[in-house]
Amino acid sequence: MEKQQQIVMSGIRPTGLLHLGNYFGALRNYVKMQEEYECYFMVADLHSLTTHPDTKELKQNVHRVLAENIASGIDTDKAALYCQSHIHETAELYLYLNMLAYKGELEKTTTFKDKVRQQPDNVNAGLLTYPVLQTADIVLHRASLVPVGKDQEQHLEMARNFVNRFNHRYGDVFPEPFAFNYGSELVKVPSLDGSGKMSKSENQNATLYLADEDEVIRKKVMKAKTDAGPTEQYSQKPDYIENLFLLMKLVSAPDVIEKYENDYNNCVIRYGDMKKQLGEDMVKFISPIREKVNSILADEKYLQGVMEKGAEKARKSARATIEMVRQAMGLNYY
Ligand code: TYM
Repeated sequence: MEKQQQIVMSGIRPTGLLHLGNYFGALRNYVKMQEEYECYFMVADLHSLTTHPDTKELKQNVHRVLAENIASGIDTDKAALYCQSHIHETAELYLYLNMLAYKGELEKTTTFKDKVRQQPDNVNAGLLTYPVLQTADIVLHRASLVPVGKDQEQHLEMARNFVNRFNHRYGDVFPEPFAFNYGSELVKVPSLDGSGKMSKSENQNATLYLADEDEVIRKKVMKAKTDAGPTEQYSQKPDYIENLFLLMKLVSAPDVIEKYENDYNNCVIRYGDMKKQLGEDMVKFISPIREKVNSILADEKYLQGVMEKGAEKARKSARATIEMVRQAMGLNYY
């Protein structure tokens, strides 16, 4: 297929096991986009240092995220799949962009404020400038489409601000990047307990991981919060029930969803049955990915090859951009 002109870039931090939120917010889009666009997908190991300075498990985590990308359908011949720290040009662009990012706007970022609450003893400068590094990742390839979940929307808004400031001061080098999802809206996959979203590090009992064993998946789904059911026809669903339906829509067949919608609207829904069905559909969805991840992880040589091939492709694009950036900024004295 003839590729579109726009360039695609996205990344995932290696801070824990990937879950359904990462899959439906990011990976599912990656797999489709690699057929249509020039794509750069990376493991954001540098970003993980802002919250996980201990690197004992980093290699293992990086390998796992790579394997989880591939098991989800990334074809390393079609998309560049690489590791952030292998592309040194990222650090250079991050430095330039830092001169255009203001302390006030960085301090107002929601993710920064969350992290300050979570790790008050380690409010490091990397945490503050996290959105600047993310912007460098994206515009290093002059990408304009960024497949991400809803939680990354503000980072993309900031990226557009930094890009516009750069272009305004030094000339048009970068396209504006936008968060992307097939479908009309960015995705937020909710946790099973009705509070918040699925997450790598929080809410682990209410998050379905791509690595979860079948029995664990069934148990987590059966524990999801429900109630005695509606007493009035066509009543509005409470959040936690809405979430269950949302999860069902991700993995179950249309006729199954329709049956439970009808049962709900007619006040005859049996949540036990619904959760059993959802559990089985989740197992069917997750177990083939889990098995693939395990077989990929067993072949370290293959993973090394993947990283080298991805880095080579990413470096080529990064070098071309850095050359343009230095020229535009007037950092060429010969
Ligand atoms: P990270 O590692 O937290 O998450 C990876 C991707 O998964 C999405 N996601 C979700 N989507 C829907 N529902 C959820 N519950 C859910 N949880 C996570 C995230 O939106 C993301 O798309 N800052 C980024 C990493 C990054 C990056 C980049 C992304 C670094 N550089 C450049 C895009 C472009 C992050 O922390 O993602």
